[in-house]
Amino acid sequence: MIALGNDHTGYELKKEIMNYLDSKGIEYKDFGCGDVTTSNYPDYAKAVGRAIQRKECEKGILVCGTGIGISIAANKMRGIRAALCHDCFSAEATRLHNDANILAMGARVIGVGHAVKIVETFLNTKFSGDERHINRINMLEED
Ligand code: RB5
Repeated sequence: MIALGNDHTGYELKKEIMNYLDSKGIEYKDFGCGDVTTSNYPDYAKAVGRAIQRKECEKGILVCGTGIGISIAANKMRGIRAALCHDCFSAEATRLHNDANILAMGARVIGVGHAVKIVETFLNTKFSGDERHINRINMLEED
């Protein structure tokens, strides 16, 4: 199950991502927002982050204008590793190395076609499971 969240700037791109997920039969839960009325990205980052913390969803996709604010907000949550990616190399690498559980993107930064390819790469890449990466990920949770 994939958790989706966005602010008003990410609403249109989220709909395209939903179309892609529908076409692949991938289940998702939409945590809003549901239109282009101005909204606050931390609300949606936290809703998606909580769904992952509670294991209601395995991964999340967050979209705001730049992807920056919404990824900063998500990364303040324990156990959340949100990767801001605007290219497929990074989307693949962050799954392999960081076991990122959220993909963040900026709807004002990239086009729909590229964004959907990044989603596909992120969702189709498994964590490498390498010990050195596990150790580093564990270090992220240390104060
Ligand atoms: C909203 O105008 C914009 O600030 C937001 O979508 C995001 O880009 C923040 O990082």
